[in-house]
Amino acid sequence: MNIVFYSPTRARAQQWEEKLKAQGLQFKAQHWNTDSTPAGVGDADYAVVWLPPEQLFQHHTHLKAVFNVGAGADAILKLHSLPDHLSVVRLDDEEIGSKMAEYVLYMVARITRGMDHYATAKAEKKWTPAPYAYFSDWPIGLMGLGKIGRQIAGLLSSLGYPINGWARSPRDIKGVTCYHGSDQFTDFLGASRIVINVLPLTDATTGILNMQTFSRMPKGGHIINIGRGEHLDETALLQALDQGQLAGAVLDVFRQEPLPESHPFWTDARIHVTPHISGATNLDQAMKQIAAKIKALQEGKAISGIVDRRTGY
Ligand code: GLV
Repeated sequence: MNIVFYSPTRARAQQWEEKLKAQGLQFKAQHWNTDSTPAGVGDADYAVVWLPPEQLFQHHTHLKAVFNVGAGADAILKLHSLPDHLSVVRLDDEEIGSKMAEYVLYMVARITRGMDHYATAKAEKKWTPAPYAYFSDWPIGLMGLGKIGRQIAGLLSSLGYPINGWARSPRDIKGVTCYHGSDQFTDFLGASRIVINVLPLTDATTGILNMQTFSRMPKGGHIINIGRGEHLDETALLQALDQGQLAGAVLDVFRQEPLPESHPFWTDARIHVTPHISGATNLDQAMKQIAAKIKALQEGKAISGIVDRRTGY
């Protein structure tokens, strides 16, 4: 069995190979190098990738499945060279959702408890406790109610935050006031002081965090974007902050990554920037999952995590 690996960071792909081998999977590894595309047709049975180039699918035409080393497979799905019937498999373990929920809880507490204030207070040696923050004063809106969205909703609602959730189609989730479709988007936004985006990136969701969206939220709201940079209209965000429509933003993902040094977000005190780490991948878990799925496919068994090519997730 042949497996081709690709990551923009070669050392990372090497690590995947080692960790996959450590799972007891027997295979011959190839590392895709865009600088020297091999001649002829590639003989890989599986691809294990993050942000792969078009040429990989033009060359390896006998793939049985491609494994995305991440939860969101948008970067693969947008490739023109991706064959229609090739199975795209995304990571679907609990741990990515737990990491994202932990990140969100930290950021939500920063906002609702006014934690940034204490950093200044400490520097000034001032003992200035903030007024009691009622959970009920901070209704939270979750855009995206897949596995990850539900894990975040579960954690926040277990503490007492009122949770609104919005998805494309109707959902019924304990502890979450569910909204769906474009008709209910305005009501969802109007009821949510902090809006968290975990939607998959598709044609329908690109640019969904825009001025119209912000203007439907209660004045002085916050957004947390841990989906994809392309969900956000960056100019509209700056405008909404300038107008006071939004009070702050937490951004983990960006249209251009790494965020260029000249980007205004770096120096804007209203914007909290982290380098795409909210759902960091546990590589041991990821390779364990991929090894088990490859074994299952080799035995003709069904696997979870295959992306629905019509919806894009
Ligand atoms: C990270 O962005 C992922 O999709 O896992």
